[in-house]
Amino acid sequence: MALFPTYKRNGIRPIQAEGVKVKDEQGKEYLDFTSGLGVCNLGHAHPQVKKALQQQMDAVWHVSNLFEIPLQERVAERLAQLSGLDFAFFCNSGAEANEAAIKLARRYAQVVRGIKAPQIISFHSSFHGRTLATLTATGQEKVKTGFDPLPPGFHYATFNDIDDLQARIGTDTAAVLLELVQGEGGVRPADMAFVQAVEAECRQRDILLIVDEVQTGMGRTGDVFAFQRWGIQPDIVTLAKGLGNGFPIGALLGRGGLEKVFSAGSHGSTFGGNPLAMAVADAVLDCLTTPGFLTESRALGEHLGQLLQTRLEPLPGIRSVRGLGWMWGVELERPVAPLLHALAQKGLLATPAGEKVLRLLPPVVTTKAQVEQAVNLIEETWLELEEVVTDGSVSGV
Ligand SMILES: Cc1ncc(COP(=O)(O)O)c(C=O)c1O
Repeated sequence: MALFPTYKRNGIRPIQAEGVKVKDEQGKEYLDFTSGLGVCNLGHAHPQVKKALQQQMDAVWHVSNLFEIPLQERVAERLAQLSGLDFAFFCNSGAEANEAAIKLARRYAQVVRGIKAPQIISFHSSFHGRTLATLTATGQEKVKTGFDPLPPGFHYATFNDIDDLQARIGTDTAAVLLELVQGEGGVRPADMAFVQAVEAECRQRDILLIVDEVQTGMGRTGDVFAFQRWGIQPDIVTLAKGLGNGFPIGALLGRGGLEKVFSAGSHGSTFGGNPLAMAVADAVLDCLTTPGFLTESRALGEHLGQLLQTRLEPLPGIRSVRGLGWMWGVELERPVAPLLHALAQKGLLATPAGEKVLRLLPPVVTTKAQVEQAVNLIEETWLELEEVVTDGSVSGV
């Protein structure tokens, strides 16, 4: 195989996908509770999004940012209105959006606050991407191994510990970079009081609060943006995954005042915000803002969480169930790999978060019946595996 072995793949070869269902080469159908890693929030090949992309393919694909792109202006305006922020910059992935946020924060600190070597504080167990700056901002050693020398200017505080953050803030702190639910780090929601204290601390010291909504945004936690659930107003928000529902896209949103430091020539992207991506994002926003859509969807996501809590938490070998909206983690006492494998065999696709957490990221359009089917499958499969372990007939499961 002529591919770098950078991924540990699961052996499934999907060739078709629609809504919550994925079909493989053998014609086997799966319920997809991965959404392509939190991307296809509206389900695969959503008809409205597909139609928008098809129509745009007949118009114009790509012209570059040398040109004015009306759809880009429109999506920027919509995102600004929805987020309470003022400006958007478009790129192609979550890492690129965070890279842009880091650059913007550094430049703001230098130009506006006169800080020569601006520092950024992120959190242990966070995940912000795989570029050199974003892997450095990521609070997990495993993504950094072998990539020295890493860029300077990054520090790590303990998630959900305001005292630790305060102790690390100095006069050269430019920004705090925060996930409201640590996704890759094990589906860990931030405490309400912690987040509000972080916001207050940032406001008081003119430190930029960057909220990484690459995974939590676009309906994943029940609102367009997760920060709305925490009742805060970040200075910068980064987006990707769900904004394109499968079409590569990334976005940086920033408050008024920041546009002065991101002047012409200071940052850019060849593909970022091209008409195809913008047509898709526009359609995604249409769906998410349809009256009643997110209210109904959020209630079903919470139903999934309640079922997981009541049915799985009491079972032996299960530590806890946590999350919100359509983002749930089931922490096990053992590695999650055998459970993922057994679930896939029974037709349910899920993803790991770390070694021992089963992460469920179903499309936000998953039906009640599909939610219940998935919980039944997880319960049944876990009990079967548990029996094998307690029997002692197989060890190391
Ligand atoms: C919170 C968060 N930030 C950033 C990224 C990186 O996004 P991408 O893989 O699109 O570069 C991810 C990806 O999982 C993520 O979950």
